[in-house]
Amino acid sequence: MFPPATVARARRADDLSGMSTNVRIVRLRVNGDLHEVGVPAHFTLLETLRYRLGLTGSKQGCDKGDCGACTVIMDGVATLSCLTPVWEAEGRDVVTVEGLAEPDAPHPLQDAFDRYGAAQCGFCTPGILCSAAALLAAERRPSRERIREALAGNLCRCTGYTKIYEAVEAAAAVLAEEAEGRPAHAPGTAGEEHDG
Ligand code: FES
Ligand code: FES
Repeated sequence: MFPPATVARARRADDLSGMSTNVRIVRLRVNGDLHEVGVPAHFTLLETLRYRLGLTGSKQGCDKGDCGACTVIMDGVATLSCLTPVWEAEGRDVVTVEGLAEPDAPHPLQDAFDRYGAAQCGFCTPGILCSAAALLAAERRPSRERIREALAGNLCRCTGYTKIYEAVEAAAAVLAEEAEGRPAHAPGTAGEEHDG
């Protein structure tokens, strides 16, 4: 009798070499692009993104809902893709970290994370960016407490969170000013330099 972890690894190896027989065709809209792809019937959204669509920005951390590294945005809601069976994403709008930026400019969150030093090893960053982007799409000027709540499921071992919260607040200010029709002023770039 093999231990469960050995069986899981063997199953994953079969899946990835295309030997699985129980294949299902799914239709997904990811970052605005439509995909029709064959996947093992048990695949999660995360496995499909990474191993079928080549979108490796969403990270496979714990693979059981504890770390938030796999967070994507589904129909506007931050969603753990490691816990989402891929068929649940059919007919939904999925956005991954690869879809946050405009073709010619980073998302204000990405810019702020860079300016505030909010990413260190970066493993948690794609999931945190997606959670924060979903929050800022729903709330124009969230309080520090709301930001804390929205990111509560995203674990970071490096930053201590303060720089992350500051970066989200800075991005919120930029987005709010854009939405209010005022020239975007990014805290930390115009007479308010952040010391990192
Ligand atoms: S990989 Fe999904 S929560 Fe950790
Ligand atoms: S930057 Fe390393 S885990 Fe968050």
